[in-house]
Parts: sequence; C-alpha cells; structure tokens
Amino acid sequence: MTSTKVISEEKIAFDINNIRNDFPILSRKVNGKPLIYLDSGATAQKPKQVIDAIEKYYSEQNANIHRAVHRLSQDITTIYENARTTVQKHINAKHVHEIIFTHGTTESINLVATTFGKKFVNAGDEILITEMEHHSNILPWQQLCEEKNAVLKVVPINSEGELIMDEFKKLLSAKTKIVAITHTSNTLGTINPIKEIISLAHANNIPVLVDGAQSIPHTKVNVQELDADFYCFSGHKVFGPTGVGVLYGKEEWLRKLPNYQVGGGTIKTVSFAKTEYADIPLRFEAGTPNIEGGIGLAVALDYINNIGFENISAYEHELLEYATEKLSVVEGLKIIGTSKNKASVISFVIDKIHPYDIGVILDQLGIAVRTGHHCTQPIMDKFGIPGTVRASLAFYNTKDEIDELVKGITKAKQMLR
Ligand code: ALA
Repeated sequence: MTSTKVISEEKIAFDINNIRNDFPILSRKVNGKPLIYLDSGATAQKPKQVIDAIEKYYSEQNANIHRAVHRLSQDITTIYENARTTVQKHINAKHVHEIIFTHGTTESINLVATTFGKKFVNAGDEILITEMEHHSNILPWQQLCEEKNAVLKVVPINSEGELIMDEFKKLLSAKTKIVAITHTSNTLGTINPIKEIISLAHANNIPVLVDGAQSIPHTKVNVQELDADFYCFSGHKVFGPTGVGVLYGKEEWLRKLPNYQVGGGTIKTVSFAKTEYADIPLRFEAGTPNIEGGIGLAVALDYINNIGFENISAYEHELLEYATEKLSVVEGLKIIGTSKNKASVISFVIDKIHPYDIGVILDQLGIAVRTGHHCTQPIMDKFGIPGTVRASLAFYNTKDEIDELVKGITKAKQMLR
C-alpha cells in the first residue's frame, strides 16, 4: 500500500495505512484476492468505531427511548438526542429540532414530497427537478404530480453531465412550487452549483430540497450557508449504519408541513375525541426509531470530522485525477460525466462490451464496482447507453487499487474481445 501522506499541516496526518486499519472489511479477501472496494457510492464501509458503538449499544445499552423512567431508557435517550446534536453541528443547522431522523434519503424525500405536496401543490403547479436525479428524487415528485395534476419540469444536462444553468433559469416560473435537486450526481459525479441554484430559486420565493446523499461523504455541508430549505442524506453512505437517514428542514418549513406518518412517539396526548401532536422533530418520527442507526451515524460523523474534510477532499481529488488519467488512456474506454466540478465517482463504458460483463470479471479479481443504470435511467437514455461501470472512491482507497482496476479492465477487455 502507499506510504504515509501528510496533506494538511494544520490537521492530523492522513495516514492511509492507519485509516485502512480502521475498516476491518478492507482486509478480507474476495475470490481469493484482496478486496478492492470501489463501490462506496452504493454504500460506504464502516470503521470499527461505528461497529463497536453498535455492538456496545446491543450488549450494554439497549432500551427504548423517550418512553420510560428506568436507567437504561434515560441513558439511551440522552445518547440518541446527543446524536441528533452531532448531526446538527455537522451540517451547521441553526436548531437541533430541525434534524429529523428517517430511514434514509429516500424516506426524507418522500416525507417532503408527501407533506409539502398535500399542503402546497395544486393542479397546474410545477415541480422542478433535473435530468441527473436519482430515481429517489424523481418518483416521489412524479407520483405527487400525477395525484395533484401538477407538472413535472426537468432541467436538462449537457454532454459533460453538467446542469444547463440557462435552462434552469428559464424553467423557474411563477408556477414552480419547489425545486428538488441533487447536490452531487451518484452516476456522473457532477457537483452542482447548489448555492447559486438556491439563491436563484429564493429570488423567486421558491423553496429548494437538496438530495445530499452523495455529497455528504465527500464535503463539509453547511445548510445555513447554502440556505437550503430541506437537505436529505443517508447514514450508510457516510460510513454509518444502514436504515438511518436525516431530513434537515428549516424550522419555518417544518412547522408548516402537515403530519407524515403518525403513531407512537408523535403525540403529546391522545383521546378518541382529539389528539394533540408533539412538536418538531418528534411529530415526524413515528414508531420506535432506528436507535443504533442514530448512534452509529453520530460516531461516523465524529470519525470523519476527526480525519478532517480538508484532508478527505484533497486526497479524494488526487485519487480522482489519478484514476481519470489512468482510465482515459485505456483504448475504447469513455468516461461518462466529465464535469469540471466532480466528486470521486467515475462512470465509464467500453466499446461493445456490456458493463455487466466487465463487472463480473472484475469481481473475480476481488474488485467491487457497480454496473448498470445506478437508479438513474434518464441519464442512460440521455447518453444512449444501457448502463455504465462505476468506480466510486472513498478516502480509504489507494492509487495501487486504481492501478489494479486498470489492470483488471485490460484483462476483461482481452477476455471479452
Ligand atoms: N444510490 C446508490 C448508488 O448510487 C445505491 O449506488
């Protein structure tokens, strides 16, 4: 593996070997070969700090939260609510009650589409999304438009996979009720100019929901600086557990939204005549939550903050440039998504070879990549391809692993020719 690399003088040294040692799964073998995990866009691996926290929860701390006076329940309620504060601080939300725990980005978007749609969207209104959205940021809005007879408008992308900003400006109209847009494309890696987009929408009094699932592992998000109205992300993509996610909403918006799911945990008092609901955020958190998920997510955020985003961003950028350079010279290989502002996600196709076949051969070599449409079929239609091979890199990857990927692709090409 590569040697110690000090990226920032002010921060702790970024020692790739120490980092990799924190992730137990990275030392396993797959098909007799050392695992090379290049699918962090689908789900990131978990450091032992997160795994230990979950084990500790179940072996020493397990109880339900917000429900009992006994010691275990009191303690775990404090730990869980502290986790909410960790999330608040991580994204610089103004208030802790602006953080709602959900099952993941998909549920966060569905929550807003359902409740915002119920109250604010009527026949003839428009919802503005983009051509590069994940299905999870298309379908809830498409369904809402069908239910309400509203119109789904789609901002196109150019051949580099960048949003066409002039089209975005043209499509913002007096009928637009909300803009829902990804911060970073899971397929193309494109980082959208979210601050500018939000400012343009706000100039027209239109709120903006940001799908942050793919940005939160790579960059420090500051929701107040962005002025996002809603910001959604998942725990498992940011080195935390699966089944937990976050919906950040500005207090003024969350208070205006009607209930989503109701049940235990969402109330102050219940009688058959009338129910009084809890304040935000609990009004949106029906049922026993994913307690270990919330706790594990907070530990994951502490973990990455300890490494420091200056270090993470600089290192991942270096990996991205290295991989782009190495892959670009592979004959017949075309990178899909060449935006100037990109996260460490590289999708590619190879002349006449189906992405799935490449994926199977790479797997035989212990290399995990994602193949297919990546839940973004409109992007595939746009580029006229059935799918791509996608290598999505995290700060625990190395240049050596990229070299192995390139060798694997070369081998796959020879075998499939
Ligand atoms: N949305 C995840 C991905 O891009 C699952 O792979």
